[in-house]
Amino acid sequence: MSGSPNQGRAEGGAAGGAKIRAEGVATDPTVRHTDGRIDRTAAATTELRQPLPLRCGLILPNRLAKAAMTERLSGTDYAPNALHEALYRRWAAPLPGDSGAAIGLQITGNMLVDPRNLESGGNIVPLWQGAAPQTNPASARAVREGMQAALQRMAAAAKSGGAQAWVQLSQAGRQCSRFNTARPVAPSAVGLSKLGLFARPRALRSEELPGIVEAFARTARIVVDAGFDGVQVHAAHGYLLSQFLSPITNRRTDAYGGALENRARLLLAVVDAVREAIGPGRALAVKLNSADFQRGGFAEGEAMQVAGWLDAAGIDLLEISGGSYERLAFFDGKAKGGADAPVRASSRAREAYFMAFAEQLRQQVSVPLMLTGGFRTAEGMGHALRSGAVHVVGVARPMLLDPAWGAKALAGQAPALDMPRISVGLRQADDLAEAGYWDHQVERVARGLEPVPDFGSWAGLMHITKREAGKGLAKRFARKRNMPWPPER
Ligand SMILES: Cc1cc2nc3c(=O)[nH]c(=O)nc-3n(C[C@H](O)[C@H](O)[C@H](O)COP(=O)(O)O)c2cc1C
Repeated sequence: MSGSPNQGRAEGGAAGGAKIRAEGVATDPTVRHTDGRIDRTAAATTELRQPLPLRCGLILPNRLAKAAMTERLSGTDYAPNALHEALYRRWAAPLPGDSGAAIGLQITGNMLVDPRNLESGGNIVPLWQGAAPQTNPASARAVREGMQAALQRMAAAAKSGGAQAWVQLSQAGRQCSRFNTARPVAPSAVGLSKLGLFARPRALRSEELPGIVEAFARTARIVVDAGFDGVQVHAAHGYLLSQFLSPITNRRTDAYGGALENRARLLLAVVDAVREAIGPGRALAVKLNSADFQRGGFAEGEAMQVAGWLDAAGIDLLEISGGSYERLAFFDGKAKGGADAPVRASSRAREAYFMAFAEQLRQQVSVPLMLTGGFRTAEGMGHALRSGAVHVVGVARPMLLDPAWGAKALAGQAPALDMPRISVGLRQADDLAEAGYWDHQVERVARGLEPVPDFGSWAGLMHITKREAGKGLAKRFARKRNMPWPPER
């Protein structure tokens, strides 16, 4: 597919952020065989294959999205490379003989809007123009052109099976490791305790916030110009925008702290600026926590209110997740070690971690919802779509244990997958081991190798430490200390 923003556009679609009430899929929930047997897998497949028109006028070819997964693959040029292309091409591939798109939407791993506050040493930073763009404009131009070409190749790979490709945009704030910086920035100087891996952040000054909004907007423009169909603003999982939303990490006394409308101000400013930058015909999504799952944190009622504001702002899709580095709820749907808001039993039964929240939220907003976390079967996905609450199902880890899992799900052949239990016996290290386990699978998929489900927990821990130390330090030394950001145009 080409990078044309008109590709996949709804005929007479609602353009310019106009409101459409997104309905759930209206299909017969079951397929009845001639002998009377009811086949729920076939029914779920039908539901998954329904296209979804978005407010911006684009149409998702089906309801299955590969959720964002950080690739950790870029080098000191902060750019996508051949491994990114191979990874997204593999995920994009339909099954042989299947004429439809494999997955409907590929959301990239988070690309960062600031090289000084990365989520991983392997992150892509589309705005990167070299270490001294201000003093060396010719070299900055060459870096910009190289970045644009690399992003174009990545977009083309991600769209090669007929999917739409959106870039997830983020700023890591305090969740940026010491390998990358000794002085991360955050809403307030509230540290993150995790084996000493994260330095205590400095509170952002109010006058620095417009620069952050600008970095999101300019990055969004760069990626859509490179052929991506849209962007997703990452306001979940404890990264900077999510830190602003949470009263635990946001203790500001200015217009960006205190009342919820103040804590949401930066996110809403980013959403407006990004829309302005990409125009009405590209997709704009947000990933939001249903809750932080921490006492005194961002809670479900507040998430509903923020979702309402995002709906009114005219976004195209709202993805629901939950948790942060302190509570990895997005990986299991519940708070570890003393949950004050554990996963509801009803959600567990329906496999998606945040299903009950999505059902409640559906009553309040008209924006289409994407639900991610825990989907493992066609039946589970079909149930969520049929509920009318959810319009897109997001899957992440199944695509690492079987890179064709999405294509198989659409064909009604998704294998049941056992998720590994990753543990080295120490909770804080377990989270890292888990990240390393999955990162190893990302790299194998990118290299065209088969995943290794029995990669051990300790191996995962070693892998992530080596990767983040190597790439994080290399990138840290590739940029200048105190470099101005965002760079001049
Ligand atoms: C290797 C890996 C990397 C991830 N990176 C991101 C990311 O960059 N942005 C994000 O929003 N979520 C990220 N996630 C979380 C997933 O998008 C998803 O919310 C979570 O894995 C739950 O979905 P699942 O049960 O289908 O795996 C990542 C997950 C994995 C396994």
